[in-house]
Amino acid sequence: MRLGNCHNFHDFRELARRRLPGPIFNYIDGAADDEVTYRRNTASFETCDLLPGVLRGLGDVDLSVTVMGQKLAVPFYCSPTALQRLFHHEGERAVAAASAKAGTMFGVSSLGTVSLEELRKAHSTPQMYQFYFHRDRGLNRAMMQRAKQAGVEVMMLTVDSITGGNRERDLRTGFAIPFRLTLGGMLQFALKPMWGLNYVTHERFRLPQLEEHIDMGGDAMSIGRYFSEMLDPTMSWDDVAAMVREWDGQFCLKGVMSVEDARRAADIGCTGIILSNHGGRQLDGSRSAFDQLAEVVDAVGDRLDVMMDGGVQRGTHILKALSLGAKAVGIGRYYLFPLAVGGQVAVEQSLGLLRTEVERGMKLMGCSSVSQLSRANLRFR
Ligand SMILES: Cc1cc2nc3c(=O)[nH]c(=O)nc-3n(C[C@H](O)[C@H](O)[C@H](O)COP(=O)(O)O)c2cc1C
Repeated sequence: MRLGNCHNFHDFRELARRRLPGPIFNYIDGAADDEVTYRRNTASFETCDLLPGVLRGLGDVDLSVTVMGQKLAVPFYCSPTALQRLFHHEGERAVAAASAKAGTMFGVSSLGTVSLEELRKAHSTPQMYQFYFHRDRGLNRAMMQRAKQAGVEVMMLTVDSITGGNRERDLRTGFAIPFRLTLGGMLQFALKPMWGLNYVTHERFRLPQLEEHIDMGGDAMSIGRYFSEMLDPTMSWDDVAAMVREWDGQFCLKGVMSVEDARRAADIGCTGIILSNHGGRQLDGSRSAFDQLAEVVDAVGDRLDVMMDGGVQRGTHILKALSLGAKAVGIGRYYLFPLAVGGQVAVEQSLGLLRTEVERGMKLMGCSSVSQLSRANLRFR
């Protein structure tokens, strides 16, 4: 199987499963506990059907949306994900470049492996900087200041991760930073030597968003310890309100799910929220963003931009989310498997496929712009 044979998410995932060492594939693919939420994320899109309109005299189709003050050429963006250079040596550089070519926004994780400044300089499409809330308030301020100076457009605080999810696939393989591989995990690396060769022949693994502020030197700080020691589980709405004021720009919360929290986000001045369960990687058994979308859009859709992510594998999934009122849709594993198997070229290929699927779907729905999608063209079974 090769890149040329990849026509959809499932093909890229299968290629990644064949090519990557088991611990890496399972870190990307896996989720928490019994992975119920992970499966529901995609299944929830199948609880409703699109109702097309015909004979609409369609000309060109405009896929662009404006979200959090940013104009995107397509209604989807690359959600921030950690450790991308571990999956492929081009890492965030590939994802940012492919996003820029697609005319869309990309997220850079606090646990990213290329600096947000480098990415900001290299591309002009909007960048989201995803960060976590640290016990050290000075550190939070310093990190925001740094993002502001770099010209980051959208600040994104992840609020569903005050503790790490229980990823049992990683426990079995020993995936952690630094690696604590089990014997089985080591064997799986030995079986896929190309990954190791690629890893050792490229630039050293770094976490540039954090290393300036935190002593990660010589792997002194593991990511597990970063979560348990540096992040602040007591963070409250008042803390976040202060950050929103300080940032004084586009600020969204990622991982809000309830109407009550969505209202509070609007009350403290957030300009967006992302309904998300972290791709099923945090609280297993929690609701899917798509299942929860209509309720939240109805409550706060006129006060801030509501986005969602989780389980998106097809253009029609995006059309369904937009029909319910999402302003844009985030993708994670959808671009990570291509990144892992082929770097920038493959991410471009996957974003191109998604764009084509959305465009084709819009035409078949009889819609020439995203604003024409509405609940009138959706029926729940
Ligand atoms: C390997 C991996 C790493 C991730 N790292 C982060 C992260 O550092 N920060 C964050 O807010 N979300 C992170 N996420 C969650 C994504 O931003 C997004 O919410 C999720 O992937 C969406 O689900 P999907 O993969 O089904 O599209 C990660 C997801 C994956 C799969």
